[in-house]
Amino acid sequence: MTQAIIKKIRHLKKQRNAVILAHNYQIGEVQDIADFTGDSLGLSIQASTTGAETIVFCGVQFMAETAKILSPQKTVLLPEKTAGCPMADMIDAGSLGELKKRRPDALVVCYVNTTAQVKALSDYCCTSSNALQIVESLPAGREIIFVPDRNLGEYIVERTGRQMILWPGYCLTHARITQADVADAKKKHSGAIVIAHPECRKEVRDCADELLSTGGMLRFAAQSSHRSFIVVTEIGIIHTLKKQNPQKQFFPIADSAICGNMKKINLEKVLWSLEDMQYEILVAEDVRKRARAALDRMLEVLPTG
Ligand code: 13P
Ligand code: SF4
Repeated sequence: MTQAIIKKIRHLKKQRNAVILAHNYQIGEVQDIADFTGDSLGLSIQASTTGAETIVFCGVQFMAETAKILSPQKTVLLPEKTAGCPMADMIDAGSLGELKKRRPDALVVCYVNTTAQVKALSDYCCTSSNALQIVESLPAGREIIFVPDRNLGEYIVERTGRQMILWPGYCLTHARITQADVADAKKKHSGAIVIAHPECRKEVRDCADELLSTGGMLRFAAQSSHRSFIVVTEIGIIHTLKKQNPQKQFFPIADSAICGNMKKINLEKVLWSLEDMQYEILVAEDVRKRARAALDRMLEVLPTG
């Protein structure tokens, strides 16, 4: 059954001149059928450079929207229209506009986990892999508003020493992970290196050996001389970590570290998406142009995380 679906997807992909992009948190089968898997920055770069006419985005709404902002002439499809990001929904353009009025001189840096409208009100966009470099590149002494992830924001403040006005948003999946989870995992897997995502809470970040984006985790695991890793992020990434490093061991921090929205897409939905050309992501042109400027400034900065 699965093989038949995969065959149909491959056939339709050619017919539609489509490319399938998948985030590292997608289910294994979806990551395996994708032309490219990666973190938010890697996927944005792929979306802006692909020659395909159609992009099937296996991720959540803000990611597909980012692809559309970067490639307006392409058809961008999200196979499950309700796949959203609760953190991105913790800020809207109206509330950011109010804050900007109160701080008219501040530069706004938005995490890529935001709507197109919020990006359109921002000066710079960033992902977890280039957030430090983006903030470091801003003029010293200039006030900075950072939205919406308070945890990523705190991490940037700790690392760069820059003071920022932080929005109180957070990722529900990473917020579930506790210091006790990390302590338990360390006891069970002594000698394993702890790699964590900066969306984790401070008590968890402080227990980590390395703080990395999901793309950074994949690069780190491949290059590291260590043999075993406790992976403190959404469990979907374990699939690719194991696939790319069969001789190493990867332990998920907790079975509950699951993003329900990232798990809404499966092979059937990818197939239906290509068959029906659904669900098309559209962004109003005036919003797109302003959001694009914030993304373009981000894409000029190379990732290190
Ligand atoms: P990255 O894959 O860019 O590290 O982002 C993690 C995430 O939570 C995406 O929603
Ligand atoms: Fe949003 Fe967190 Fe899910 Fe990423 S893992 S899509 S930040 S809720």
